[in-house]
Amino acid sequence: MEATARAHTNIALIKYWGKKDTALKTPLMSSLSMTLDAFYTDTTFIHDSNLTEDSFYLNKIKQNDNNSERVFNYIHHLQKLFNLKGHFTIYSTNHVPTSAGLASSASAFAALATAFAKSYQLDLSLTDLSRLARSGSGSATRSIFGGFVKWIKGNDQTSIAVPIDQNPDWDLHMLAVEVNTGVKKISSSKGMIQAQTSPFYLPWLERNDEEITMMENAIKSKNFTKLGELAELSANEMHATNLTATPSFTYFEPQTLKLIKLIQELRSQGIECYYTIDAGPNVKILAQKNNLSAISSAVHTLLDNVKIVDASFGPGVKFLD
Ligand code: DP6
Repeated sequence: MEATARAHTNIALIKYWGKKDTALKTPLMSSLSMTLDAFYTDTTFIHDSNLTEDSFYLNKIKQNDNNSERVFNYIHHLQKLFNLKGHFTIYSTNHVPTSAGLASSASAFAALATAFAKSYQLDLSLTDLSRLARSGSGSATRSIFGGFVKWIKGNDQTSIAVPIDQNPDWDLHMLAVEVNTGVKKISSSKGMIQAQTSPFYLPWLERNDEEITMMENAIKSKNFTKLGELAELSANEMHATNLTATPSFTYFEPQTLKLIKLIQELRSQGIECYYTIDAGPNVKILAQKNNLSAISSAVHTLLDNVKIVDASFGPGVKFLD
């Protein structure tokens, strides 16, 4: 009747940026991510025949109908899938430093799918859970597993997450740099539809299998340079499709560009680091331990008041008692 799950968020090194089926959230491309230790969501799902309505609490605050709609629709969809009925209460807490500006839908829907399944004692594998999480939010598919994770394109059955290395023995960090602009962003769901009007979208898609293979090889051979170059390329390809869409748009803010230039400059000084950027102005910097403090102080010198959170590999989804 009640179950609690924890899921960590993930950042894609090879980006997902387009759906084949909007409702099922099957992607047009495969993607590959790193699950992060620093950011996670805890979610309790309760179903009880005495409940008279559905409710959703986020960080202890009861959410109004508007804010609950996506979550309620998702649970109703899952209930239908498994022939279940009844009202429910969801308590969700985001352990994402409020300042980090990281999207939490990946950890949120992975934790929710897992808590839902356990509360109804559904006998599901982690692969099944990744499929369920996918229909909540595409990127949530990958948050079922820890470490490096691939999300395979395909149909409703075959588009699932596959762990590549759940406990990577790697010195790899991601510095999440918050660029606080207060600018309202275009949602991922909308942005990835608009991007498909770009003349560069299809050529990018055609490169997907090759880019995934190259990234898997970089991971296997623990080649940080290759991994960083490929991650940066994938982010640039995604943002290039936004800039060349009709109408054109971008998530970049002036500070985003300043950070891109700083990272290029640091590299030319022999401080190896790479960036990746999602559907917002924040920049995530891939680096190794020996360079973290040099990179952080360079960022602080360039931009006043930015927050930096150091993250590394996080685990897959787990149940909490
Ligand atoms: C840029 O998973 O948030 O972070 O499937 O519509 O919920 P929906 O989108 P979402 O998109 C994430 C896009 C991205 C790249 C990525 O995580 O692969």
